[in-house]
Amino acid sequence: MSKDKTSSITLTRPDDWHLHVRDGAALQTVVPHTAAQFGRAIIMPNLKPPVTSAAQALEYKARILAATPTGTEFEPLMTLYLTDNLPPDEIQRAKEAGVVALKLYPAGATTNSDAGVSDLRKTYATLEAMQREGLPLLVHGEVTSPDIDLFDREAVFIDQQLIPLRRDFPGLKIVMEHITTREAAQYVASADSFTAATVTAHHLLYNRNAIFMGGIRPHYYCLPVLKRETHRQALIQAVTSGSAKFFLGTDSAPHPAHLKEHATGCAGCYTAHAAMELYAEAFDASGALDKLEAFAAFNGPAFYGLPRNTGSITLQRQSWTPPESFAFGDAELKPLRSGEALPWRLV
Ligand code: NCD
Ligand code: ZN
Ligand code: ZN
Repeated sequence: MSKDKTSSITLTRPDDWHLHVRDGAALQTVVPHTAAQFGRAIIMPNLKPPVTSAAQALEYKARILAATPTGTEFEPLMTLYLTDNLPPDEIQRAKEAGVVALKLYPAGATTNSDAGVSDLRKTYATLEAMQREGLPLLVHGEVTSPDIDLFDREAVFIDQQLIPLRRDFPGLKIVMEHITTREAAQYVASADSFTAATVTAHHLLYNRNAIFMGGIRPHYYCLPVLKRETHRQALIQAVTSGSAKFFLGTDSAPHPAHLKEHATGCAGCYTAHAAMELYAEAFDASGALDKLEAFAAFNGPAFYGLPRNTGSITLQRQSWTPPESFAFGDAELKPLRSGEALPWRLV
């Protein structure tokens, strides 16, 4: 990485290892934002209905590529949505189709998770096939029991689900997605090389106060929900530690503004419009800009067994203000930090 201490940094072109782009007209807005910054992005399969076959994943990929601006080199990396009855023989087809991973949503845990897994044991034959084929399992790591406090759901998931799963499938690559707690950071840091985690920019920049600053702020509501400051600090420590187990996953999750500003507002923060700018802000605030390149461009490809991107991006210390909103099909999309100045800018 070349770095001019105060004013700009140049990095190998990064990848986003956790992204929601939705479908239909929405693609026209969100795909260009990601393609302008990243060489590749792992596309989450939580559409309605979910992406559960290799054939559906290929069709979805073609729609995403059709929304990619001409002349932009961008590769969507496709995933399948694990259900209680996704057949083991779909794994071979998925591998042949270039699908890179399967996603575990515990039923009811998050946006569009009704088709998710009700009991991990029901998926064991499929997990066996994944372990054999070398296809990673990406995990939304929260238990869903209403008895468990919302803020504890990630830590309880690790104890109740992840530790037994890790033991039963020692050769399965597992990524704990969008980690939010000290417990998750510690678990992943001390786990074997088959275990990794993605971290979002918003969980590095904000603690749970952001959701309640001067009134309820739906655009800061995502799942797993923002946690207290000590957890944010643990995440910062993890991503700036030099450990290769942590890599960039924005979890940029667009929803129409009217469904977020709602009595039962949807979970998800939209950050694709300024993803690298937000990460640069977080790393810079802890004096660790020199750790950003490995987190954003090296650790992910190494875990997935893919080459690093060629080419580079440059971020400049230059204040700019994202728009209040973007068109989002017939609706509006309000990006995180809309109308508020950001200190870094992609040039
Ligand atoms: C995501 C979405 O909207 O699809 N929402 C979120 O709050 N993160 C789903 C997810 O990643 O859990
Ligand atoms: Zn999730
Ligand atoms: Zn997500």
